[in-house]
Amino acid sequence: MRERIRTNWMHIVHPVALAPLVLLAFDATTGRLTINPIQDLTHRTGYAAVLLLVASLACTPFSIVTGWKRLLRLRRPLGLYGFLYATLHMLVFAVLDFGLDLRLIVQEIAEKRYIVAGLAALLLLTPLAMTSTRGWQRRLGRRWKQVHRLVYLAVPLALAHYTWSQKADIRQPLALGAIVAVFLLLRLPVLRRWIEARRRKPGDVRHSTQVTGGDLP
Ligand code: HEM
Repeated sequence: MRERIRTNWMHIVHPVALAPLVLLAFDATTGRLTINPIQDLTHRTGYAAVLLLVASLACTPFSIVTGWKRLLRLRRPLGLYGFLYATLHMLVFAVLDFGLDLRLIVQEIAEKRYIVAGLAALLLLTPLAMTSTRGWQRRLGRRWKQVHRLVYLAVPLALAHYTWSQKADIRQPLALGAIVAVFLLLRLPVLRRWIEARRRKPGDVRHSTQVTGGDLP
């Protein structure tokens, strides 16, 4: 039963995370992109990347609040899908927009701070994606956790990139930034202990089901 519940979560994550890519491929091959296809591709890959990275970051705080430890298993696939879209997003910029012209690319990076922030975010995420396997987790031992803390720098950098890339309305990236700030606050040991202690109050009905995992949807 437990195995079935765990598998079902993954059955949701993979199609949801792949849906933007499938839709994008469909729209691109059937001529359904907007009048500015490169801008459309940049927007859609960038947006999918940022949402999946934030979703990956949400797993730990949600697990702290609800006690559903299995949410933690979703961090890796969500983060890897976020990285996949961020890589595609960068490729749209470098290959489709700039035709891999290194001189122009370097010039653009030097001129626009939002590109520097995006590039920094992607560079920080790269070792995390590379070492996300169990083999690397074993090999790196305690250092694995330290390396993977880079995500707390990479996601805010990605959000700074998103904010600075917007010409007018920055409400959406700022809202995402506020959500991420709450997620990071919830990880503070003092807050975390307080929430966990409240969750485990004697007589708390939820606690007894959480221990068995019986209240998972
Ligand atoms: C983790 C890494 C990254 C994330 C999550 C990300 C996300 C985003 C998002 C959400 C947008 C706004 C899309 C829109 O509203 O149209 C955007 C715009 C953009 N990003 Fe990224 N990005 C990342 C890295 C990069 C990198 C490495 C590059 C290029 C080297 C890049 C180039 C661009 C460009 C050119 C725009 C369009 C700005 C405009 O509207 O003129 N991004 N990105």
